Amino acid sequence: MQIRFSDYMIRSWKMDDAPAIVKYANNKKIWRNLRDAFPHPYSLTDANGFLMKVGSHDPECVFAIATKEQAIGGIGMVIGEDVHRYSAELGYWLGETFWNQGIMTQAVKLITAYAFMNLNLYRICAEPYEGNKASVRVLEKAGFQYEGRSRASVYKDGKLLDQLVYAKVKQ
Ligand SMILES: CC(C)(COP(=O)(O)OP(=O)(O)OC[C@H]1O[C@@H](n2cnc3c(N)ncnc32)[C@H](O)[C@@H]1OP(=O)(O)O)[C@@H](O)C(=O)NCCC(=O)NCCS
Repeated sequence: MQIRFSDYMIRSWKMDDAPAIVKYANNKKIWRNLRDAFPHPYSLTDANGFLMKVGSHDPECVFAIATKEQAIGGIGMVIGEDVHRYSAELGYWLGETFWNQGIMTQAVKLITAYAFMNLNLYRICAEPYEGNKASVRVLEKAGFQYEGRSRASVYKDGKLLDQLVYAKVKQ
């Protein structure tokens, strides 16, 4: 899979992306906004383990954000099961060097359109932790609607936090 936008692309992960993942993902400012399954520190072994796992997803739903030269971030969905099988939760991160240039807003818009078209989904949500203003802004700019607050739903970095629920529904 590959979707190009300006100087960037969303594409399938490749096994040789591991060093770039370590370069950009090994950052506490990224880790503190993601699940603990995203490790910190982020080692080459972690990156290789992640790449082995994403290679086996069917359908493919976790992708790299990349320049022509290297991966600089990730974007992906966890597709629900049972009665939630037409819903997915979106997650994303970007190397800090590339923040605040509109890259993730573009990527979220494109992956949402891709998922509605190709993954048979009717709802895509994202649930940033309270205080994650950059992610909230990305979701607003990408046309997600605020649905509410899941109180004390997350325990991260020694603190109980609310999650802010944003979603887009297929028209
Ligand atoms: C969230 C993240 C992906 C944003 O990527 P990005 O490419 O920088 O996003 P964009 O440039 O498209 O948009 C960022 C917006 O947030 C705003 N923003 C950034 N930091 C902010 C802050 N501290 N307070 C308020 N707004 C802020 C930017 O000004 C921009 O909005 P604008 O276009 O209205 O000026 C990136 O910061 C990141 O990887 N964070 C760590 C991981 C994470 O939080 N993932 C999401 C989990 S839900």
